[in-house]
Amino acid sequence: MKIDILTLIPGMFKNVFDESILGAAVKNDILSIETHSFREFGDGRHKTVDDTAFGGGPGMILKPGPLVEAIRDLRRQGNPGPVIGLTPQGVPFTQSVVRQLAGFSRIILVCGRYEGFDERIRPEFDLEMSIGDYVLTGGEFPAMIVIDAVARMLPGAVGCRESVEHDSFFTGPLDHPQFTRPPVWEGASVPEILTRGHHRMIEDWRRGKSLVRTAIRRPDVFSRLDLTTADGAIFQECLNTAPGVEV
Ligand code: ADE
Repeated sequence: MKIDILTLIPGMFKNVFDESILGAAVKNDILSIETHSFREFGDGRHKTVDDTAFGGGPGMILKPGPLVEAIRDLRRQGNPGPVIGLTPQGVPFTQSVVRQLAGFSRIILVCGRYEGFDERIRPEFDLEMSIGDYVLTGGEFPAMIVIDAVARMLPGAVGCRESVEHDSFFTGPLDHPQFTRPPVWEGASVPEILTRGHHRMIEDWRRGKSLVRTAIRRPDVFSRLDLTTADGAIFQECLNTAPGVEV
């Protein structure tokens, strides 16, 4: 997958994707990331990309000309995939959006700055996306988050495919609690059931914890789950055996 980033601060992306899983994905040609400064398309000697708002108001607004020219320049290279504007006014970025984006061979991410985009830029976006209900100084951090989430879904990026498919939100509920060695740490023991090697019981225990945790922490997600009768019994059993424990 190729990801192009349009930004005024390409330096923010330096080294961000050099390490760990994303670094390996880049090295193994699963992922390629290119930043482009749309200041190149700015107006006049100063390469101006912003101006004050018509009607007044604080801050500067991104002018339509330079940014739209930069987007069209990338589109002209062919096979552009969706052009995505990162803004707090966009659709919420969720795991289901991540999965859809991971299906494209190329995407273009557009990072805003200042007080926002001139409204006439918007028709150039195929989608506007928000990473949460808060306002950041620009779209650069949101772009990094989008890239991280999408890249780990690409086949071959994460060693064990199963671990991606069992993630929270992929199949529905939040993840169950996880433990590793040592079996006792600062007086806290790993639940005994996980040490007995009975796979069916472990699966049910994990499903129960996962469902109870989701019901308590994210009732909105829980209410959308498609639960089976077996889930109901497992949920009840989990509540009965460890009421209120470590959710
Ligand atoms: N730019 C500024 N804030 C943002 C947000 N919450 N999501 C996406 N892009 C943004």
